[in-house]
Amino acid sequence: MRIVVLVSGSGTNLQAVIDAVRDGGLDAEIAAVGSDVPGCRGLERAVEAGIRTFTVAPADFASRPEWNRALEEAVAANSPDVVLLAGFMRILDAEFVARFEGRLVNTHPALLPSFPGAHGVRDAMDHGVKVTGVTVHLVDSGVDTGPILAQAAVPVLDDDTEESLHERIKVEERRLLVETLAKLA
Ligand code: GRF
Repeated sequence: MRIVVLVSGSGTNLQAVIDAVRDGGLDAEIAAVGSDVPGCRGLERAVEAGIRTFTVAPADFASRPEWNRALEEAVAANSPDVVLLAGFMRILDAEFVARFEGRLVNTHPALLPSFPGAHGVRDAMDHGVKVTGVTVHLVDSGVDTGPILAQAAVPVLDDDTEESLHERIKVEERRLLVETLAKLA
């Protein structure tokens, strides 16, 4: 199974997938890693693992649709069976989603449909939930909607900060992501 991974930041979810492929826990190949953020840590992790990378930055395009088309072509050029959004922080347009729908996977640090959007961890904390978690789902034309593939619950501790809670979520997220990709493979 060929996976193209899109990242925007630290790439610890990507690293979990890289490690699982290397250690034989995931029967797949990471064909390429792409990002909207030049030089982000996630791209560095791919380079360190000898994986092809590409950068498609919005600032280099006159419009958001042109950026979407360029990203779509960069992904398609690597013939993915699965496109994984692992900490990718841009909204992809309907044409991009339609091209890869059914094999476009996203991970979100909350128990969807609760707390969608870019601040799911903070929103859950602000709401005062005692349990939150992580969701791996197929991407459809909505934001953090689409068929849910897997979820895991994570407790919220009284002295949690957004960062400490997110780190606890990411421990489960990395495990759940690899498990879900292994099932898809
Ligand atoms: C992950 O928790 C992801 O669900 C969220 O942002 C975090 C990215 O972490 N969108 P990383 O870049 O994989 O370390």
